[in-house]
Amino acid sequence: MMDKDIRKVENMTYDDSRRIFLKYFLAGTAVLAFETSGLGKLGTMVSRVGAAPKVSPYIAQQEPGKGFPQSIASGDPTDSGMMLWTRVDPSLETGFSNIEINSKLIYWMEKPGVKNDPSLKEEIENGKFVMFEVSKTEDFSTVEVSGFSPIWKEYDNIVRVDLDTMLEPNQVYYYRFITKSGLVSNTGKSKTLPSVDSDVHSATIAYISCQDYTNGYFNALRHLADEEIDFFLHLGDYVYESVGDASYQGGLKDRRINLPSGKSKAFTLEDYRTLYQTYRSDHDLQKLHENHSMVAIWDDHEFANDTYYPAVAPDDNQESDPGRRLFANQVWFEYMPARVPYDSSKSFEESIKIYRSVTIGNLATIFMTDERLYRSAHPCGEGQLDRYFTNGCENRNKSNRSMLGFNQRDWFIKELKNTDSTWKIWGNEVQVTQLKLLNRFFNLDAWDGFPYERDVIAQTVMNEGIQNFIALTGDFHTFEASYLQYDYNDSGEKYGVELMVGSVTSSNLREAIRNILQEVPDTSSPIPNGAVSELVRTLQTTLGSLSTLTAELLFKELQNIIKVENPWIELFDSTTHGYALLTLTKSKAICTAYSIDNIEKPQSTKSLLWQCEIPNGEVDIIVNKDNHILEV
Ligand SMILES: [Fe+2]
Repeated sequence: MMDKDIRKVENMTYDDSRRIFLKYFLAGTAVLAFETSGLGKLGTMVSRVGAAPKVSPYIAQQEPGKGFPQSIASGDPTDSGMMLWTRVDPSLETGFSNIEINSKLIYWMEKPGVKNDPSLKEEIENGKFVMFEVSKTEDFSTVEVSGFSPIWKEYDNIVRVDLDTMLEPNQVYYYRFITKSGLVSNTGKSKTLPSVDSDVHSATIAYISCQDYTNGYFNALRHLADEEIDFFLHLGDYVYESVGDASYQGGLKDRRINLPSGKSKAFTLEDYRTLYQTYRSDHDLQKLHENHSMVAIWDDHEFANDTYYPAVAPDDNQESDPGRRLFANQVWFEYMPARVPYDSSKSFEESIKIYRSVTIGNLATIFMTDERLYRSAHPCGEGQLDRYFTNGCENRNKSNRSMLGFNQRDWFIKELKNTDSTWKIWGNEVQVTQLKLLNRFFNLDAWDGFPYERDVIAQTVMNEGIQNFIALTGDFHTFEASYLQYDYNDSGEKYGVELMVGSVTSSNLREAIRNILQEVPDTSSPIPNGAVSELVRTLQTTLGSLSTLTAELLFKELQNIIKVENPWIELFDSTTHGYALLTLTKSKAICTAYSIDNIEKPQSTKSLLWQCEIPNGEVDIIVNKDNHILEV
């Protein structure tokens, strides 16, 4: 039990010098008065105070974890804070109705000269808020920052707190939440970034993508939770909207998801919430969030496969479905500890803006882009074989096609030109480098479908003399290390490097081929099943036998062809799952990819898949042939 902790809370005093903050969502018409903050209807506002609150602190009375079924999370670290997140069990705490907030925008806690909102004080005393505590020590013996934040009833009983501007740079903090009834969350750990204008010598970030809960255990995440990193990037497919046919009797029975709508894909608000609730009930994912802060962008499956503007889900409906997209946007906002504006009263594409950047002193700037909300349709049609394993078409090269949308592209180009950071890291959703197989485009859902805009980015980097440009990519369930080239031919000028991470659990190409041959349903193949079937037929024809070819032989042939036809790809592995680390120093960047030996059991071992080094000032991928971890 935690008697010691309870005593500490009971004895805690709120001295005059302590900064106490209240952050909560804005709601109601008067929000417009605060629009200069760049935040929308569900934005956050901060109030700093220097004296004790008149409301009494909540007291921890339970074992940590009870009442917080999705545990906790932190994200979007800055040099002075981070976002904190939790969700309180709605069967235990009723939460605060944003309708009740009305125009009462903010509650200042005992700041001299400020008249507090008495009704909000009453709500805090009624237990519709949580108390959050932030400490430099794991036992919370001293508390650096504390305050109350609403449990948002209309937003699935979640809690979002933004501590930006409130903490010290380059410092590890512990945090937890306590309810009025004495429920206390697990303790989370998060690290602020070094001061933006400081000289930083090294940093390590992890990056992951594609974690289909139904397809395997999150073993990779458990291993990543134990790594020494500054924070991790999630490059998308945090959830999969498709849960497959619940009547399917194979696979992992304890990881099936039944959606409230009864459908095999998420369509309703409650469907999307069920996905996030279920994923976040996974102890490995919880442990990862408890140990490290996340900076996340979405890819397609947070809404629907291969989606593009205006909210089209081409596998489900050729028409726009803005209502479904708004549900997906809202739930992403509810569950992600991301510092992004959100306003549900606006159209789906204006309701949220997730592209943003992170700065690690003078060492690196990381640009996180949104490649789904604003992008053009697929260039050559929406059939599976128009999107994948296709000959292409004239429309592919059109200059009016955009992956980023023109506003985001302008932002990205401007940011790239203006940054003085040593390393320019692009948190990117889909493959940048060209990928052809038997002279057909493998994937026009990736940047191969947007060559004009890809060239605009390449020209910016080359013409501006931008060095040390690295794209970190997910989506394709494959580990790759490749050269970014202006032209994808033998003489194409190299201007950067792409380091793709494989999936946490989603099917890789070898598994996709195996599943097609064995007629096993596959909801998270990197290319749709119809395209995998065509690929298998073509490979069978190439190899000249229809009956004796195993998935392994077909995959080896595929890998051989890829290496020959795409010489800019230095490393390619689509046989495993895992995660990758990127260590940045003044002299080099080191990418270390880890492989997990299985996803079928909840136990696993990790091993080094590969490691490569990119020297400062050079476009060069130096593969570590010794197969041991380099010392930085
Ligand atoms: Fe994926």
